[in-house]
Amino acid sequence: MVYKRLTFALMGHRKTRSKFYDSLRIEAISSEGLGIARVNEKVVFVENCVPGDLVKAKTYQQQKNFEKARMVELLEPSPDRIPEFCSHFKVCGGCKWQYLPYEKQLALKEKIVEDAFSRLAKVEIGEKRAILAAPDTSFYRNKLEYTFSTNRWLSRDEISGEEDLNKNALGFHVPGNHSKIVDLDTCYLQNDFSNRLRNAVKNYALEKDLVFYNIQERTGFLRNLVVRTASTEEILVILIVNHDDEALLPLMEFIKTSFPEITSLNYIINPKLNDTYFDLEPVCYHGKPFIIEKLGKFSFKIRPKSFFQTNTKQGERLYDIVKEFAALKGDEVLYDLYSGVGSIGLYLSDDCSKLVGIEQIDQAVEDAKENAKINGVENASFYVGDVRLLLSNEFLNKNRKPDVLITDPPRAGMHPDIIKTLLEAKIPRIVYVSCNPGTQARDVAMLDSLYKVVKMQAVDMFPHTIHIENVALLELR
Ligand SMILES: C[S@@+](CC[C@H](N)C(=O)[O-])C[C@H]1O[C@@H](n2cnc3c(N)ncnc32)[C@H](O)[C@@H]1O
Repeated sequence: MVYKRLTFALMGHRKTRSKFYDSLRIEAISSEGLGIARVNEKVVFVENCVPGDLVKAKTYQQQKNFEKARMVELLEPSPDRIPEFCSHFKVCGGCKWQYLPYEKQLALKEKIVEDAFSRLAKVEIGEKRAILAAPDTSFYRNKLEYTFSTNRWLSRDEISGEEDLNKNALGFHVPGNHSKIVDLDTCYLQNDFSNRLRNAVKNYALEKDLVFYNIQERTGFLRNLVVRTASTEEILVILIVNHDDEALLPLMEFIKTSFPEITSLNYIINPKLNDTYFDLEPVCYHGKPFIIEKLGKFSFKIRPKSFFQTNTKQGERLYDIVKEFAALKGDEVLYDLYSGVGSIGLYLSDDCSKLVGIEQIDQAVEDAKENAKINGVENASFYVGDVRLLLSNEFLNKNRKPDVLITDPPRAGMHPDIIKTLLEAKIPRIVYVSCNPGTQARDVAMLDSLYKVVKMQAVDMFPHTIHIENVALLELR
């Protein structure tokens, strides 16, 4: 006990007791999608709530100005709530906003962007366009990754029952409990093929007594199943196993013969303690080692480890907005920062004289170069490196200063050093694409002395989730 207290003190934690709130009215929604309630000037952020809900909640974090809490009971649902459509909703973390009509989800997302820019960052926006709704609100993802586990999430009834339970599962991690897996029956994120394949592989594995992975003991055979379905109807599948085993090839053969529509069937042997497979070599068991995805007239080669936009249809519409905001006339130098596999830059490559991409993952840069080649794009160069280090004066002089710069950083946004470089370079037009309007607004505020926000449009890439993609056009004042 003494040891425990000492450890807590050394780690700088103060152990506080959870607080219970018998009745909290949710007034608004935060940029992270948490419900906001107020108790005596203090803000309480409550998970899985929407404005209008009256809830009982228990805190799990207490700070001077705010607390974070989990909903214990929904006392009075918001009048906006509708019944959820997925049977896994209560446990799975995937589509948390499905209890809200789609129009309400869109309105909340717009409000989050508005708050981030106008209220918090205090940035003035020229033209604010309405959020672009997704054409499909279910089955919109082109990639899912499922996990095999011996530790299925069990319902209360199952735990208290007498039965000897089968605890194998194939599905998604339970949010906040990485060791438990929701065993999926139907998931509404990816098309029917994904559900059929996952269920067939699980049934085969159960029938043949194949051993599912145990994350605590680090034992077992079956680890992950990755499914990619392209708009070209091509399908890429990766089975990830812990070790080579005599059961592997019969299972691959079962998948191949049961699902002849698969165009690229691969496996990866992952004996490591973690699930990442980016440092491992895929083996193509059947078909070709890649699939082709299309965005507009451009083709993209997707290999087992390639990164790609996960909502193809809406990805194309996002790129159309970027294209419109970039307003290229044909003779400009265009930079694509955080270029991934080069998809945004290549999509715009016809309209500029020179394209320069920067991306830190070398395999993505290899893919970008390959994608330039298969599309006959000859005016593009892609560089591997950290934008912060690579985007120097020397680099700008060598590659020519951009007339238009697209930046699409990860959630953390851009480092202040990059903002400084952009301010010094005085690039006439910047199109800032972001998956986190909070950090985007912060960065735009830092550019405010030289740049005005001319237009802005949010795009809903991920219905039923809090995620928002936002595109802002910045021009020199
Ligand atoms: C949001 S993704 C954008 C990808 C691409 N623009 C697209 O539309 O598919 C962000 C990309 O930035 C890369 N990245 C993250 N931090 C980076 C850094 N410091 N320097 C260069 N690239 C980075 C990631 O590997 C990822 O490919």
